[in-house]
Amino acid sequence: MTPAASPLPVPAHIAIIMDGNGRWAKQRGLPRLEGHRRGVEAVRTVVDAAREIGVRCLTLYAFSVENWRRPGDEVGGLMGLLETFLTRETPKMVRDKVRLRTIGRTDELPCGARAALAAAMAATARFTDYTLVLALNYGARTEAIDAARSFAAAVVAGKASLDDAASWAGFSRHLYTHDLPDPDLVIRTSGEKRISNFLLLQAAYAEFVFTPVLWPDFGKTELIAAVTEFRGRERRFGQITEQLGAAGAEAEAKRPGDVIV
Ligand code: IPE
Ligand code: IPE
Ligand code: MG
Repeated sequence: MTPAASPLPVPAHIAIIMDGNGRWAKQRGLPRLEGHRRGVEAVRTVVDAAREIGVRCLTLYAFSVENWRRPGDEVGGLMGLLETFLTRETPKMVRDKVRLRTIGRTDELPCGARAALAAAMAATARFTDYTLVLALNYGARTEAIDAARSFAAAVVAGKASLDDAASWAGFSRHLYTHDLPDPDLVIRTSGEKRISNFLLLQAAYAEFVFTPVLWPDFGKTELIAAVTEFRGRERRFGQITEQLGAAGAEAEAKRPGDVIV
């Protein structure tokens, strides 16, 4: 039974650290870029699978602020793949009614990628049921800095008061993710067990699933396995088991961000 067909909830927001493209290629004696090409195919599969099982928001970590430190030809290849992916996938996203969003300093991406992003986002802006978020030139620490700057600018402009920063609800309005729910489930492929500067604040109460599968080999079966593992977890949000019961749904709805100042 797929998660959508079962009475148990599917995570509203899944965020994935797509890792292992390079090792996938190396194992086959192929250039790293071939691993990234196969990684893009996995993106297509997983975007479809997530929508099919009823996940409303999917965030994919595609390029970190630290990834600029890779060899120039790999960075260039990744940017080219991004552009091709967007151009090729936009008509499908429109057909499937998937809204594309980004998080990260996208203004620092090459102009071809920026133009493809702008076109894809404009074409899908009206959709509300499913959101695909690409984390591009993203880092949680740069996000924190950008949020602090945005908040300070709002205070200077008289649009926010210093008291707003004393509540998570007030401050989180300045994060890239201000209009997105926090991730319920964060998946990392390739066997690494670290967060690599991804959604540090938003994942405060996310469940983590680490799988040894390399990203190009990750598909619907692996996604469902991760969701099944997620369902087996008890999310307590600081409370104790006995408090959950009938009030569990209420506790889930009241995320820590809403109750902790
Ligand atoms: C993930 O695969 C893709 C990006 C970070 C852009 P990697 O390229 O990091 O693959 P490994 O970790 O070297 O195997
Ligand atoms: C994390 O993967 C970034 C993305 C998946 C885009 P990395 O491969 O860059 O992470 P580290 O360097 O191994 O931590
Ligand atoms: Mg890696």
